[in-house]
Amino acid sequence: MDSILVTGNGPLNGDIPIAGAKNACLTLMPATLLSEEPLTLTNAPRLSDIRTMTLLLQSLGAEVTAMHEGKVLAMSSHALTSQRAEYDIVRKMRASILVLGPLLARFGYAEVSLPGGCAIGARPVDLHLKVMEALGAEMDLRDGYVHAKAPTGGLRGGAFEFPIVSVGATENALMAASLAKGTTVLKNAAREPEIVDLVECLRKMGAQIEGEGTPTITIQGVDRLGGATHRVVTDRIELGTYMLAPAICGGEVTCLGGRISLLQAFCEKLDAAGISVEETDKGLKVARKNGRVKAVDVVTEPFPGFPTDLQAQMMALMCTAEGTSVLEEKIFENRFMHAPELTRMGARIEVHGGHATVTGVERLKGAPVMATDLRASVSLILAGLAAEGETMVNRVYHLDRGYENVEEKLSALGARIERVKGQ
Ligand code: EPZ
Repeated sequence: MDSILVTGNGPLNGDIPIAGAKNACLTLMPATLLSEEPLTLTNAPRLSDIRTMTLLLQSLGAEVTAMHEGKVLAMSSHALTSQRAEYDIVRKMRASILVLGPLLARFGYAEVSLPGGCAIGARPVDLHLKVMEALGAEMDLRDGYVHAKAPTGGLRGGAFEFPIVSVGATENALMAASLAKGTTVLKNAAREPEIVDLVECLRKMGAQIEGEGTPTITIQGVDRLGGATHRVVTDRIELGTYMLAPAICGGEVTCLGGRISLLQAFCEKLDAAGISVEETDKGLKVARKNGRVKAVDVVTEPFPGFPTDLQAQMMALMCTAEGTSVLEEKIFENRFMHAPELTRMGARIEVHGGHATVTGVERLKGAPVMATDLRASVSLILAGLAAEGETMVNRVYHLDRGYENVEEKLSALGARIERVKGQ
């Protein structure tokens, strides 16, 4: 297993490119299953999760061709050979569940392995199943698979109110309802930019959808969907992650293509912490206003609230802030695994249930640490950038799921960071 060696090296300066959104691409790719015609995605990120989704779609008989070094994905599913998503792929990536809705809508049948839990929580898929039932499907759970069957004549439009906001279940519902007969109304739907991006793509394919970005989305089912070419929206989580690099180290960095509208709540917290964020025609220019960062409290919420996927990274900033910060994680039940690793670097953090209390220290000290999940791994790298001495982040296969070329991107800003090949 590879590791990443980071050495604290002072302020960072320059421009950093931001890739297409992993979490948009992971729902846009299964959308190809809805149509016989080609769907082409541009601005796709080069990540291991995208390669896993490619393998999954190919296992169903879809054609997925990566071009232009993986930034363009040309897909077609005019001749699928299977409607069964096998466990050995699904267990690697939970987003595999997003083939359920499209397969059910287009073919009336799907067998999808249950994804199982993951490091940050149990992450059940009950809402995915319930919303398919609201569209008339029968869901039968056996031998670790969901066996889903649409009624004769296909899925029927229906009404469903999500008891809690679920990004993935909203995405599955949108794709399934696009081909259901009749009207579907989703209430308490997710409002993330990735949801809006999916709807914009489905609309190019001929779907009739209104209300994306609000809690109520209405879908008029159509008989068939066509092909499209769609540009994947900018990755707001990669954006927020790299905005924190100059915040933690000092200096001035422009995140190319960034827009405040993708991260309003996050930018407000940075402002309160003493970090300036200026939207320019190139992207978001980020710098410390003056002196030490100030401690701020954070509560993670569904969009437009503070993103749970930036909680670990924000905690790294709070470790050397002036004062005490309380971070409350309200989306996942076990998303503070980076805390004990940051403590190894001298951070002062107390975790009680869903709350982490961070008392800022002057400076962290480099140490060997363990990446436990995708966002925790990059939180440790951010901490290492500003720490005194060397930090070796182990198990960085988590990192490669969600961040392309971290070493190159940060080295270009003046960071001392390199990948150490595992034995
Ligand atoms: C998406 O996961 C993202 N992944 C996650 O990003 C992100 O953290 C999450 O949304 C929240 O924003 C992708 O888009 C591929 P949810 P998803 O359904 O859809 C519970 C990353 O780091 N729930 O919105 O799985 C669930 O356990 C990843 O890029 C149910 O109880 O998240 C969680 O507590 C991590 N039943 C809450 O809802 C269900 O059927 C929100 O989950 C579904 C979810």
